[in-house]
Amino acid sequence: MTHIKVKVDGTTYEDDVEPRLLLAHYLRDRLGLTGTTIGCDTSNCGACTVALDGASVKSCSVLAVQADGSEVTTVQGLAENGEWTALQRAFHERHGLQCGYCTPGMIMAARDLLNENPHPGPHEVRQALEGNLCRCTGYQNIVRAVLAASGEQLAEEVTA
Ligand code: FES
Ligand code: FES
Repeated sequence: MTHIKVKVDGTTYEDDVEPRLLLAHYLRDRLGLTGTTIGCDTSNCGACTVALDGASVKSCSVLAVQADGSEVTTVQGLAENGEWTALQRAFHERHGLQCGYCTPGMIMAARDLLNENPHPGPHEVRQALEGNLCRCTGYQNIVRAVLAASGEQLAEEVTA
């Protein structure tokens, strides 16, 4: 067992974990943060995407011990005081989801894109999300949602 200390969605946790435990399983099974979904054997679908020290990673391809001393943000840590972010609202309003299984990963990957490039074009959005698979939407509304969020996101950043 290895002792880890990790901050997840603003709360610090200390745990003894098996060195082979994946971050995705740590979040879901140990912390009960099942908003981060698992959609494949490993590293294909992107459903499990979270932010690790600000950069999006597939949490099924990261060991929990690698997150020791780091800060993890999951989709469940985005809303503040019960208020969705612009990106979450845009997915809702633009019908960027159907079954919703891919949505946590899509939102976390799109959030990373918008942090780096607040005004992406459609091609840049598609490129940024190429590691995230959706079996329902055909992607069109996901791209629309991210583009719609980019304007609002800028306004939020200016007032932040
Ligand atoms: S569950 Fe991590 S990429 Fe599919
Ligand atoms: S909305 Fe169902 S997998 Fe994307």
